[in-house]
Amino acid sequence: MIHFTFKKSALILIALCFWCFRAAAQDNEQVIVKTENPGGWIIKTKSSVYQIIITADGKVKPGYYGAKGQATYLKKNAAWYEGLDEVPVRGGRTAKTPMLEVVFNDNVRDADLVYVKGEVIIVKGRSTLQITQKDKFYPLEITSYIRVLPEFDVLEKWAIVKNTGKKGSIRVENLQSGSIVLPADDYMLTHLSGRDLTEFQLQHTELTPGLKIIDNKGFKANHNPPWFQVRPKSAKDTKTGPTWFGSLHYSGNWDLIFDKTFDGPVQVVGGMNFWDTNWDLQPGTTLETPKLTVGFTDKGPEQASRNLAAYIRKDVLLAAHREDLRPVIYNSWEAAYYSVNEQQQIDLAKIASEIGIETFTIDDGWFKGRTDGRSQSGLGNWEVDRNKFPNGLAPVIKQVHDLGMKFGLWVEPENVNPNSDVVQAHPDWIFQFPNREGNKFRQILNFANEEVYQHMLKALTKLLSENDIDFIKWDQNNALTEPGWSTAPANIQREVRIRHISNVYRLVDELRKRFPKVLFESCSSGGGRVDLGMLSRMDQAWVSDNTDPIDRLYIQYGFLNALPANVMVSWVTNTTRHQPISLDYRFDVSMSGVLGIGNDIRKWSPAEKLIAKNKIDLYKKIRPIVQQGILYPLVSPFEHNRCALQYNTEDGKSAVLFCYNMAVYLKGSQETDRGTTILKLEGLSPDKQYLVKKANDSTDKGTVYQGEFLMSVGIAWPVKNAFESQIMLIDQVK
Ligand code: DGJ
Repeated sequence: MIHFTFKKSALILIALCFWCFRAAAQDNEQVIVKTENPGGWIIKTKSSVYQIIITADGKVKPGYYGAKGQATYLKKNAAWYEGLDEVPVRGGRTAKTPMLEVVFNDNVRDADLVYVKGEVIIVKGRSTLQITQKDKFYPLEITSYIRVLPEFDVLEKWAIVKNTGKKGSIRVENLQSGSIVLPADDYMLTHLSGRDLTEFQLQHTELTPGLKIIDNKGFKANHNPPWFQVRPKSAKDTKTGPTWFGSLHYSGNWDLIFDKTFDGPVQVVGGMNFWDTNWDLQPGTTLETPKLTVGFTDKGPEQASRNLAAYIRKDVLLAAHREDLRPVIYNSWEAAYYSVNEQQQIDLAKIASEIGIETFTIDDGWFKGRTDGRSQSGLGNWEVDRNKFPNGLAPVIKQVHDLGMKFGLWVEPENVNPNSDVVQAHPDWIFQFPNREGNKFRQILNFANEEVYQHMLKALTKLLSENDIDFIKWDQNNALTEPGWSTAPANIQREVRIRHISNVYRLVDELRKRFPKVLFESCSSGGGRVDLGMLSRMDQAWVSDNTDPIDRLYIQYGFLNALPANVMVSWVTNTTRHQPISLDYRFDVSMSGVLGIGNDIRKWSPAEKLIAKNKIDLYKKIRPIVQQGILYPLVSPFEHNRCALQYNTEDGKSAVLFCYNMAVYLKGSQETDRGTTILKLEGLSPDKQYLVKKANDSTDKGTVYQGEFLMSVGIAWPVKNAFESQIMLIDQVK
């Protein structure tokens, strides 16, 4: 047995502290370097530099952001940064989009910042540049942060504004998370847009002089998450060239602003959308923005997406479950809709366990008074409906657990129906304006109100303590109308949107602390809440209520540009909007993310159940590569009537390739019909041998190819007919 004396342990502790300090100091030296002449810092990631310059008159300027090795970033007094600040404000000769707009209590609306101090601190284990500036006259201080994650080529930016005065508030009319400036050039912007059932559609647009704003006022992250990529218009393909990218960590109203002058650089600003919002900053108090992650790679947009996905998987997702493989889920929504009951759920659970499901989930409809989506009661009553489940949820949960599965439950904590117990008892807890009709069916509880927060914490704590729940699907199916807060004083009325989201976050965070084993899924009328704010506290996301496999290929391809596959939940259902599509194909589409089933599996024939079982078995084998691997999006459905996704292990020793034909008449169909369309693989070791085998064909013994051959010559497109798919398994043999 090892026996430590106090002295020994103290010595070890000192040595450890010294080592940590040295490690941190070395890290600081590498990624954030102080510069003289011009004074400031250079922040280095794997392939980018970000330069900050402090001018002689105390202005903090963004010097250069782009490829390492470009000499321009060291250029002193470069003319193009002169009109720009690291934290641009409303005030003086405003040339660009401000991050900060304030009104002082004598009605002065100009801010004038001067540098106070800058230092490198450690935030969550990472070197972080902290720069403090203050107004030259008024008691206003702003601290901006840049946390550096060099291996992903990303920087996290955020800011905290403080009223340092003793009396009198400062009205904050706008406070954005961060601003970056791209060197002067002509650029193309890629972003996502969509609505429920058509989420994550890729958009490409030229940034011409003027403003391009993508934003959201619907009070949830919305179906176009706050993500972007910008690259020079001259770029030849998506595999090379400079690309700036970013994603905002926020689930309320947001904006991303792209501001291009006629001959100058492009400024990108992002943060909370202050539309219908301002903040009364009281003496001694602060207001903090959400994080805006920005990045740069010189290897093109596909690499930018890989960097972002790796960063999300390894640094953004909640640490406790970050590494866990996501379970294969069954969800009863499309089998039962609101008409759930004990026997039906038990019947479904038995079949689910036979085919290999790991988590069985009851969706909407299980709670008191919930009859359908248009009913006026139900939402808000987080107690089981005794008509549907006379013995409570316990018998179903026990059965699910006895069958060896985890148990999941749907909730929608932020919304209520007008006749729910909670609204009847506290009519002033919902968002409303007098003399306005409001939504008659579904209203939003005002979480900005501390009483509402406490009530919901109690209700959900009770639900999770009294029932042995392993998984929560957290939905939000409403856009905010009439955002009035009847019991609040006038000066904080317009803070309500920020306060609401902040308490939604606080509630999720508290529940995760109280129930650490429970996995959480974010949902909002399909994929309406897949921003990094929610995904830093929830483990995965429902992507779309459109479960048609062909539509889904577009939706998922768009999603994977911005987010990793281990948060992309995809159910196999019966929905085929275009024409009947085989169960094999439907599985193959869902297996490229987090596999689930949302069908009435009681209606499946023995043959269909066997397909499902085999597919789930295969999925469990390839799941580590799909969920935690590196994605190469080989063929885009937005450009071809085919789609191919290749996932590699980090060491490039194994890969899984999904190939889908999407139409009868394929683009380049003559070639495809002759079976000669070639698919070049990526990310393998050129000098190693790989066995390439069709997973959907048990007779295929596979063929061995050299890695270099697979990447430079390629394999024949492995699918012949329309609406057929193939999963290829690729493993290094030597
Ligand atoms: C919207 C979600 O996207 C669906 O999956 C389902 O959970 C319903 N809400 C339930 O009301």
